[in-house]
Amino acid sequence: MKVLITGANGMLAKAVRERFEEEELILTDVEELDITNLEAVETFVESNKPDVIINCAAYTAVDKAEEDLELARKINADGPRNLAIAAKENDCKLVHISTDYVFGGSLPLEETYKEEDPKAPETVYGVTKLEGEENIEENMEKYYIFRTAWLYGDGNNFVRTMTKVALGKKDFLQEERFVTVVADQYGSPTYAADLAQYIYETLEKEIPYGIYHATNDGFTTWYEFTKEIYKILGIECEVRPVTTEEFPRPAKRPTNSKLCKEKLKKAGINIPKWQDALKRYLESDIFGI
Ligand SMILES: NC(=O)c1ccc[n+]([C@@H]2O[C@H](COP(=O)([O-])OP(=O)(O)OC[C@H]3O[C@@H](n4cnc5c(N)ncnc54)[C@H](O)[C@@H]3O)[C@@H](O)[C@H]2O)c1
Repeated sequence: MKVLITGANGMLAKAVRERFEEEELILTDVEELDITNLEAVETFVESNKPDVIINCAAYTAVDKAEEDLELARKINADGPRNLAIAAKENDCKLVHISTDYVFGGSLPLEETYKEEDPKAPETVYGVTKLEGEENIEENMEKYYIFRTAWLYGDGNNFVRTMTKVALGKKDFLQEERFVTVVADQYGSPTYAADLAQYIYETLEKEIPYGIYHATNDGFTTWYEFTKEIYKILGIECEVRPVTTEEFPRPAKRPTNSKLCKEKLKKAGINIPKWQDALKRYLESDIFGI
């Protein structure tokens, strides 16, 4: 299988590269292929003729995006459209990654979001990611869109940050040795290696095209997630819950990010529990802090 990976230096891309290492890979980041340039994308896909494009490129700085709509839209909305057009012209499949932020997060907490539920993004990031999904759906048929959330892997992420904090390598640990973490946002932490595995199995098993929710299994809060990280690592550091209100950010965070994974499970993809995934991540040697 000839696979073109865009945004190949990003956190998810690193996991995808590893999982697909036995395939014929074409690796590009913005320097080699800027996905916002339709002509460049069409020429590149036409001359390389991949069987599948895995789009790992995105504008992922959620807070910064609030002041940067134009660039966020170019990368998150125009980019996927350009890839869809080129993929369609060359009869190539497209795998694209989206986010829980396409939903507003105001669903009652006892409910989970299904793929087709109404969208109500409340941030620039969420709006532009939703536009990216729609642009793919309008331009081609052979696509897989995976909505993921709370991603961690080989790159800056929540797990590394909280570990550095507890080990005193970051300066915002309180003097009394406790950390405060938001306890009223719910979602599923997702190990990038597991998402890469879902992508691999999806292509191997040729499951039906469409949109899938693709996180690890089970739900938690950032507060409980932090406690689990410290428990696995044997770190003694008190974790104190705070509310979202006490911790304001430029971009609104969804309260309910619970994505229902039944569709992906029914398609035959195994979805590991988030605690199991976290353990494997913390045991792996890519945990480079
Ligand atoms: N990180 C998360 O918590 C999270 C949560 C939900 C969804 N996602 C989605 O998962 C995907 C992967 O996220 P990530 O955290 O690995 O991202 P990342 O920020 O680590 O990597 C993004 C990559 O895209 C590249 N890029 C930016 N603009 C480009 C352009 N114009 N052309 C080509 N490449 C360009 C960057 O150089 C970078 O290497 C994204 O679609 C993101 O929206 C991430």
